[in-house]
Amino acid sequence: MEKKIGIIGVGSMGSAIALGLGSQTEYKLYLYNRSPEKLNKLRGIIDFIKVEELANMLKENMDYIILASKPQHIPDILNELKTLKLNEKTVLVSVAAGFTIESINEFFSDNPIARVMPNTPAQISAAMSAISVNPKAQSQITELESIFQNIGETVLLDNEEQMHASTAIAGSGPAYFFKIIEALSKAGEKQGLKLEEAEKLAIETMYGAALLLKKSQLSPSELRVQVTSPNGTTQAALESFNESKIDQIVSAAVEAACARSKELAKSQ
Ligand SMILES: NC(=O)c1ccc[n+]([C@@H]2O[C@H](COP(=O)([O-])OP(=O)(O)OC[C@H]3O[C@@H](n4cnc5c(N)ncnc54)[C@H](OP(=O)(O)O)[C@@H]3O)[C@@H](O)[C@H]2O)c1
Repeated sequence: MEKKIGIIGVGSMGSAIALGLGSQTEYKLYLYNRSPEKLNKLRGIIDFIKVEELANMLKENMDYIILASKPQHIPDILNELKTLKLNEKTVLVSVAAGFTIESINEFFSDNPIARVMPNTPAQISAAMSAISVNPKAQSQITELESIFQNIGETVLLDNEEQMHASTAIAGSGPAYFFKIIEALSKAGEKQGLKLEEAEKLAIETMYGAALLLKKSQLSPSELRVQVTSPNGTTQAALESFNESKIDQIVSAAVEAACARSKELAKSQ
């Protein structure tokens, strides 16, 4: 039987999820956004029911409700769902950064709750989503993974505390990658290339390397060794990376992101 999924807040992330799920026949989508005209962009692309009032969504007894507004708007939405007497079987799934399961539990102590942290490549169905659930949602884990596999890959965390580290790696990760592309492009320009040439070389190389890594049976270090001829150009560059203590630079950056994630969670 098709699962009913409501999405509250259909901006960048909400619409990425809707687009991923909309092509699957096993889901019936109910979309609700503060400014309802935003939903018109999805018309003709996917099948969904446009919800004008949250009460109408709840009357239909959703299997899942995905909360995809900004974190600061989530308490108001949860209050409204409480007033409207949300069914206690509905799984509440929050994708709001830093909004903890415990905070949702304060509103809905009887419901299964999941916290999911996708990242921006969700826009092209290439998200990396970390999933954490409360004990009541244990039996829905496989279904939750399937839902989010429609927008990319998933990792199920052992505990919610690991969400900070996942955020530091996958949530913020695309920005690290863009920063490295920027640095490589500028370095290429310094060595005599036009910036756009250097950028193309950097982007396509990173893209090809990521695809190779995904398709290959070899680990990142094995692939690195494979392209590093003794005394060759790659070895020269890698030695320079090591002299600059690249592992410590990356580790300190991830530690900073983790620390900030913990601070933000406390302030919700
Ligand atoms: N974007 C990402 O890559 C990403 C990655 C991981 C997690 N997230 C999380 O995803 C959530 C959404 O982020 P976003 O980038 O998609 O933000 P966004 O583009 O601003 O979308 C948020 C949407 O929520 C709607 N909204 C606000 N209050 C509402 C309410 N009370 N009822 C119904 N809809 C409401 C807004 O409607 P209006 O059109 O009226 O403004 C807007 O369309 C955030 O909590 C963020 O932490 C995002």
